[in-house]
Amino acid sequence: MKLIKCKDYNEVSAAAANITAAQIKEKPGSVLGLPTGSTPLGMYKKLIEMNKSGEIDFSPVITFNLDEYYPISADNDQSYYYFMHKNFFDHININTQNIHILNGEADDPERECGDYEAMIENAGGIDLQVLGIGQNGHIGFNEPDDFLISATHKTHLTESTVKANSRFFSSIDEVPIYALTMGVGSILKAKKIIILISGKEKAEALKQLLSGKITTKNPSTMLNMHRDVTVIADEEALELIK
Ligand code: PGA
Repeated sequence: MKLIKCKDYNEVSAAAANITAAQIKEKPGSVLGLPTGSTPLGMYKKLIEMNKSGEIDFSPVITFNLDEYYPISADNDQSYYYFMHKNFFDHININTQNIHILNGEADDPERECGDYEAMIENAGGIDLQVLGIGQNGHIGFNEPDDFLISATHKTHLTESTVKANSRFFSSIDEVPIYALTMGVGSILKAKKIIILISGKEKAEALKQLLSGKITTKNPSTMLNMHRDVTVIADEEALELIK
């Protein structure tokens, strides 16, 4: 596992944007796996600037988002569909047919997840998977548990994640308690992975990730089984690392 030590959030965002841009320049039709959350916002802003200045072209790029609440409608301003369009897709020259997000309104969530997995395969697999991390070590909505599910699946959110995400909703009761998420196995199939970690509330999760020990109690530690992972972390997140 490679570690890029950054001074602050801005440096994390710049490093992540540069790696993503390099991937697109090397392979214009790259398949990207993309996250939501506060952490990737700075990276998305920088990628939008690079696209507007003509440095990178998103028209041949294909994207798959990591997860979506369930059930939730696409036009709900807390859906990840809404988030991705508002914060990224509406500002770049991506072909909308190349955007894939799990459908939070699917009648048959199991089928939706199976189809999603097949679509990733058909696109040739993910070239670069970008990840954030939860305070509890979750990646996507793969929450700490006695066991983890490998493929894309419907899952129950933990109380701590519902609480952490309630800051975006008018009340905690409005936070959906289920989600559809790529599984740990789907994530590990990506050819290359970067994980962005900023802030001291992520320090414990990061310490466990960098310990090299693998535990389902911190799903991010599964990344230790992959041979091309780059951790991009700032000083606050690294405060427990000597
Ligand atoms: P955050 O979420 O970037 O908003 O901290 C990350 C995550 O929960 O995966």
